[in-house]
Amino acid sequence: ELASLKNSYKNDFYIGTALSADQIEEKDEKVDSLIRKEFNAITAENIMKSMFVHPEKGKYDFALTDKFISYGKKNKMFIHGHTLIWHSQLAPWMEKIKDSTEMKAFMKDHITTIVSKYKGKIDSWDVVNEALNEDGTLRKSVFLNTLGEQYLIDAFKLAAAADPKTDLYYNDYNNEEPAKRKGTINLIKKIKEGGGKVDGVGIQAHWRLESPSLEEIETSILEYSALGIKVAFTELDITVLPNPWDLKGADINQNFEGSAKMNTYPEKLPDSVQEKLAQRYSDIFKLFLKHKDKISRVTFWGVHDGQSWLNDWPIKGRTNYPLLFDKQLNPKKGFEALIELKK
Ligand code: G3I
Repeated sequence: ELASLKNSYKNDFYIGTALSADQIEEKDEKVDSLIRKEFNAITAENIMKSMFVHPEKGKYDFALTDKFISYGKKNKMFIHGHTLIWHSQLAPWMEKIKDSTEMKAFMKDHITTIVSKYKGKIDSWDVVNEALNEDGTLRKSVFLNTLGEQYLIDAFKLAAAADPKTDLYYNDYNNEEPAKRKGTINLIKKIKEGGGKVDGVGIQAHWRLESPSLEEIETSILEYSALGIKVAFTELDITVLPNPWDLKGADINQNFEGSAKMNTYPEKLPDSVQEKLAQRYSDIFKLFLKHKDKISRVTFWGVHDGQSWLNDWPIKGRTNYPLLFDKQLNPKKGFEALIELKK
């Protein structure tokens, strides 16, 4: 068999990708065959979020989710559900929920309807996404405002009741950093003590060339799995561009070349940066392999650089190069490094 990510790592953990709506609809044959060759796990990048799946009160739209599930089944892939309870990408009517009675009714209907519809078909769920602030305290949201922290316990109980066998995850970003990690650990303990079932923690892994350190990642794997739960890396990508707000008064349009303006998009990632990115991916996967018994899945947030959300973040129009395949779908040095690790 030809070397592919999913074959190379088949005895270690699932290798996943996020799928856009177009990819779920198999609009591009070349992209589709790349997805099927390289990945054995899928997450919907957007279409299962509340605003898309539950646009009006009591009115669900499962058309694309159904396609997503049949795509995964057809290709014998691990299917991950993203996401049930998240403060972002809510339908406007959900933002207006004002008291605990209404919110309880919403959560019961929303979680039960979606999870039971796909009972036995979705292998794991992000039950709650991004509930914490950077300092580990609970993030203000329509959920916290109406129900207090009980909403977290309720969400996990409702999901387990609707499908007892699917794995239930708490998912967040920067939760490999000490303060947020501590908050995450407390949160998971609280949910369990409250009677909720938590099977895993999702570390989104929207990372950078320089950070987080391998030490923080390793400590996180160890501390989370000491809770008796699985660890998944759920949205991996590595930005090669600076955060404008890290530049401290520097030119906000600065690109990684320093002098190049953000809007003069280089067509190709310069070799020096390309190599740094490959080294970073290699270091990270070496660590993942060291702890493969604790890691259930590593999912990239997109198939190729042309698809990445980072192209438009934090400023619209920015070109980024965070994934393993370039816009033309060619494997980058990072891909070769990850195949090489398993030779
Ligand atoms: O669907 C509309 C379309 O109708 C409209 O024409 C178009 C115009 O801008 O927007 C489309 O919606 C966009 C949507 O992606 C689907 O493409 C939104 O504007 C855009 O904000 C949205 O961005 C997504 C983002 O979540 C929203 O918060 C990104 O694609 C998606 O990659 C990103 O994923 C999140 C994870 O869910 C949670 N963790 C962080 C991660 C990265 O931000």
